[in-house]
Amino acid sequence: MIVKLSSKHLNQLARIDLESSHQMSSHLNLDDYKEMLRHRFEEKHEVFFGFKEKNELKGYITIRLFFPGYKHCEIYWLSVKSKYHGKGIGTKLVKFVETHAKQRGFGKIFAYTNKAMKRTRKFYEKLGYKLINEFPGYYSYPENDTAVLYGKDLL
Ligand SMILES: CC(C)(COP(=O)(O)OP(=O)(O)OC[C@H]1O[C@@H](n2cnc3c(N)ncnc32)[C@H](O)[C@@H]1OP(=O)(O)O)[C@@H](O)C(=O)NCCC(=O)NCCS
Repeated sequence: MIVKLSSKHLNQLARIDLESSHQMSSHLNLDDYKEMLRHRFEEKHEVFFGFKEKNELKGYITIRLFFPGYKHCEIYWLSVKSKYHGKGIGTKLVKFVETHAKQRGFGKIFAYTNKAMKRTRKFYEKLGYKLINEFPGYYSYPENDTAVLYGKDLL
């Protein structure tokens, strides 16, 4: 089941991030994720949706309802606990926000990810996302600082 989330879910979301095995974030601990989430909820730029099963939040996605261009929006964050990877949760979350965005009149959806995250890139490519460009120096990691931008038409 996909549910809308709010800041009251902050602790559970930090737990998902910590347990998602994000290849580029192995140096972050639970408090780091909580701090980032606190800031993100305060900014109010993202709409949060979670995948809930048997009363456990297993993954979440956020969408920003603006992105440079006309009728463009962005998948800003996507994270699934690693013990549940490969079970279709990420796909369900992406498809859900695509429908959400389409119903709100958006024509195109974008997502940045790290160039070095091969499995994540494959995930987006399987869902029909096309590589638009790459951006060296986008991230502040000492290595693997290149971002790739993917986009998909919603019409
Ligand atoms: C990328 C991610 C959200 C995908 O979620 P998921 O629920 O595992 O994805 P699904 O089960 O719907 O899709 C599986 C496909 O995703 C890809 N994939 C990416 N990472 C994977 C992983 N760790 N395990 C299994 N499949 C993965 C594979 O191509 C797989 O296809 P296959 O089953 O034909 O091999 C999840 O692996 C994750 O949270 N990764 C760490 C954080 C991250 O990369 N976030 C993305 C934005 S920065």
